[in-house]
Amino acid sequence: MKKLTSKEVRNFYLNFFESHNHTIIPSASIVPENDPTVLFTTAGMHPLVPYLLGEKHPAGNRLCDVQKCIRTSDIEDVGDASHLTFFEMLGNWSLGDYFKEEAIKMSYEFLTSPNYLNIPKEKLYFTCFAGDETAPRDEESYNIWHSLGVAEDHLFYLPKEHNFWILGSGIGPCGPDSEMFYDTGKPKCSEKCDPSCDCGKYLEIWNDVFMEYYRDEDGKLTKLKQQNVDTGMGLERIITVLNGYESVYDTDIFQNLKEKLEQLSNKKYEDNKKSFRIIMDHVRTSTFILGDDHGITPSNIGAGYVLRRLIRRAIRHLRKLDLMEDSLMKLANVVIEDYQDIYHELGKNKDFIITELEKEGVKFGKTIKDGEKLFYKVIKHLDNDTISGEDAFKLFDTFGFPLEMTEELAKENNLNVDTKGFAEKFKEHQEKSRTIDAGSFKGGLADNSYESTKYHTLAHIMLAALQQMYGPDIVQKGCNITSERIRFDFNLNHKMTDDEKKTLTNIVNEKIQEGIPVTMEEMPYEEAKEKGAHGTFEDKYGSIVKVYSIGNFSKEICGGPHVKNTNELGKFRIIKEESSSAGVRRMKAILENN
Ligand code: SER
Repeated sequence: MKKLTSKEVRNFYLNFFESHNHTIIPSASIVPENDPTVLFTTAGMHPLVPYLLGEKHPAGNRLCDVQKCIRTSDIEDVGDASHLTFFEMLGNWSLGDYFKEEAIKMSYEFLTSPNYLNIPKEKLYFTCFAGDETAPRDEESYNIWHSLGVAEDHLFYLPKEHNFWILGSGIGPCGPDSEMFYDTGKPKCSEKCDPSCDCGKYLEIWNDVFMEYYRDEDGKLTKLKQQNVDTGMGLERIITVLNGYESVYDTDIFQNLKEKLEQLSNKKYEDNKKSFRIIMDHVRTSTFILGDDHGITPSNIGAGYVLRRLIRRAIRHLRKLDLMEDSLMKLANVVIEDYQDIYHELGKNKDFIITELEKEGVKFGKTIKDGEKLFYKVIKHLDNDTISGEDAFKLFDTFGFPLEMTEELAKENNLNVDTKGFAEKFKEHQEKSRTIDAGSFKGGLADNSYESTKYHTLAHIMLAALQQMYGPDIVQKGCNITSERIRFDFNLNHKMTDDEKKTLTNIVNEKIQEGIPVTMEEMPYEEAKEKGAHGTFEDKYGSIVKVYSIGNFSKEICGGPHVKNTNELGKFRIIKEESSSAGVRRMKAILENN
């Protein structure tokens, strides 16, 4: 069968909605104009928030677009088959115009019509919001899909975690959604396998959000002035799925980049998938950030820091392919060529993009060169085959030379690196240079009494329990511990119901009663991440970290201390659960002695 290309799908989409009386609007900037709480535009609806709330859009109330988006929360996963930090989101919008019926009918036509995506109907599955105490079950959408001929065994009601959409901040226009899934044809992973399952049988390809609510920071929903539709179809994803590709990097989107990289390196993508993917993704995203008219440049804060990380990580992987920094510019040129017809700003800002990449490349190149010089000086004076932690740390501290590179060079020279010693030095240094702001210390380092230690372990159990309930995206946003209580902040977009609090209490107390041993292992940060340990990225890169495990239930990077067994904790009781800031909940809880 003929393969779909990105150009075709973009054109299909815009033409289809134009023929249904939508006005095509250009992508907004990749940096949100009106939202200081985020660094990048993360969804198609982001730039349209004021219009979803009722402001008049100059282009009318039926719009469609292809929006540039960046999501970097999964940056560590880039290199696998599917993760990207940049993507294009196809969307159609009703700003108080049509609602569920027209939206769903158009979606179904676009997916199944031989003139458009031409997906066999039996391959499609649909989900609707099951309803809860805040918003009713979306029977209307269900019935509309059904009336179009979708069989009941292709229709599912799913709860809020799956079928209610809001921006990551948890505040803003939102509503129940109806999601469309493609059946890959893989066997079901179990009897219960349905579109809510992430085994890979059913892949989400489109999302129709019916935005008729506004959620405030306490999680309260109020009806908006108007009923809107926000739909989102990830371009890279739909092409991957419909073409039956194993990886998003097999789509036409990456072909020119891949060829250029193969040519430059004289190496094959097939033999170097991880580095190729990281380079291609990071160069593409960096080019779009630099090309965005905002003049963002690599720096140590905010969007500039994300950009610096992307560029430096790309360079590290270029070096793994024996390429130098200047390849960055050659690859960025391919991205500009590939996209400038659609995103004119890339052509317009070409010189800026190339100059900034060059500058950052030179800077990082110097870092590496100086580091290498010192490295060879150090090894001249070695009296055994191990580079001391102190020397490895000096390289890192003085030149910003990543530990990973010291290790690589050491390997080439048949030497070892004392990574444990490095970690100790690193820690010493951190403690010395830390500005004392006890209030903002994660984990509250104030006191290491036995009572407080219990609460440290409790924090790990709480996080794992919350993740079990709401999914792996839950992270700890802060934690303050005294010998009497814990205050634990985490991201969640709604107030916890009484039932949810009960569930959390039960899970935590079960884990305490099970008497699970708490164990600790030291390993390089990268390995900890690979093993799935939770923890924040900051300051940890290249260092050795402690990973505390509570059986298979929890694995976290943490300095400790912790109790030896969960049965030391006593009984967990929630005292209060309230909003802390946008999308962040704060829980106060205590441990009672049995
Ligand atoms: N806002 C929804 C999403 O990002 C639909 O566009 O999935």
